[in-house]
Parts: sequence; C-alpha cells; structure tokens
Amino acid sequence: MGSDLPASIAIRPEQEVDRDQIHDLTKRAFAPMAFAAGDEQDLINALRDADALTISLVAVQDGKVVGHIAFSPANSADGAPGWFALGPVSVAPEVQGLGIGRLLIEAGLQRLIALDAAGCILTGNPVYYRRFGFVVRVDLAPPGEPSEYYMVRSLGDPTPSQVVSFHPLFHAAGT
Ligand SMILES: CC(C)(COP(=O)(O)OP(=O)(O)OC[C@H]1O[C@@H](n2cnc3c(N)ncnc32)[C@H](O)[C@@H]1OP(=O)(O)O)[C@@H](O)C(=O)NCCC(=O)NCCS
Repeated sequence: MGSDLPASIAIRPEQEVDRDQIHDLTKRAFAPMAFAAGDEQDLINALRDADALTISLVAVQDGKVVGHIAFSPANSADGAPGWFALGPVSVAPEVQGLGIGRLLIEAGLQRLIALDAAGCILTGNPVYYRRFGFVVRVDLAPPGEPSEYYMVRSLGDPTPSQVVSFHPLFHAAGT
C-alpha cells in the first residue's frame, strides 16, 4: 500500500465546484459495501446545508475528484467541547488501495489537531482505522450504533468517560 500512490494527487478543502463530484464519488464508493445505507452522499449535503461540515477535503488527480473525507461536530455526553466525527470517507473504486484514503484521513486529523480538537469518533472497520490511532470503545458507543465498530481517537483531551454521539443528521439520513 502507498508505494503506488500517484505523485499527482493533491489534497485540498472542497470548493463549491466539487460538490457534484463528491456526491457521485461517495455514491459509487459505497454502492458495493454491504453495510452501506445507500444515502451517504446525501448525508454530506445535509451536513453542509446545516453548516455542520467542519472539514471537507478532496483528493484531486488531473483535475478530477478521486477521494473525499468529511468531519462534523460530535456531542460528548459529559459536555466536553471539541469532539468531531470522521465520515463519510470515500475513494473512487478504480484507485482504492493506493494510499489515497490514508492521505485524506491523515490530512483531516492534522486539521482537527490544528483546531485544538479533543478527539474524533467514527464507525468503521477496526482493521483499517486502528492504523490511524483509533481504538474500539464499545463502552462509549451511543445507543443504536454498532458498538464493535465504534472507534475513538483522543487528540487533545484524555479519552472520554461518557458517550460521544454523532451529529443528529447521521441518524436522519439513516447511516
Ligand atoms: C475505505 C476507503 C476510503 C479506503 O481508501 P483507500 O484509498 O482504498 O485506502 P488506502 O489505500 O489508504 O489503504 C488501503 C488499505 O486499507 C484496507 N481497507 C480499505 N477499505 C477497508 C475496509 N472497509 N475495511 C478494512 N480494510 C480496508 C485495504 O485492504 C488496504 O489494506 P493494506 O494496507 O493492509 O493493504 C476506500 O476503500 C473506500 O472508499 N471504500 C468504500 C467506502 C467505505 O467503505 N468508506 C469507509 C466507511 S467506514
């Protein structure tokens, strides 16, 4: 992994002109995934419309969006500020496995650190996300989340002692 990463990949914040490509890319990337709700692309638009798309980065190759990652505010039950959720993250199927996902995740986490974030949550495959410092925290999973896939990475604060929840739009969109 990573050694085949095209040198021409650039990671940058989304621009308005990218929105349709982000939507199509997300739909395409999640379509084959058995766990997908099928509306991940709509969640991104809903978060943006609600001013809750804190970080939205694209990976661009030859002027084309080939990857995207979203971060949104999360809610810690103990009232601790500065928690965020990672996702959705997508890489175009034809360029998966080249390290673009890694670039997006690492760039996003760096931006969270620059925002003095306390930490980040996600639901995802632990085999993939543990390499980025996320740990499964079944005990902190909000009700309704698949707790064995619920992962936390502390960035500034110590690991929280109470549930950290996703933005309500995650549930409105069915993801
Ligand atoms: C998940 C995703 C963003 C990763 O992007 P990527 O550019 O393919 O990932 P990278 O090249 O950085 O990393 C590749 C590694 O991740 C692994 N990997 C990718 N997706 C994985 C998944 N869903 N579960 C477990 N491992 C996964 C690959 O097997 C590979 O492993 P290796 O390093 O041991 O060879 C991309 O595969 C994708 O868009 N998948 C469909 C949408 C999706 O599942 N999004 C995440 C939902 S939690």
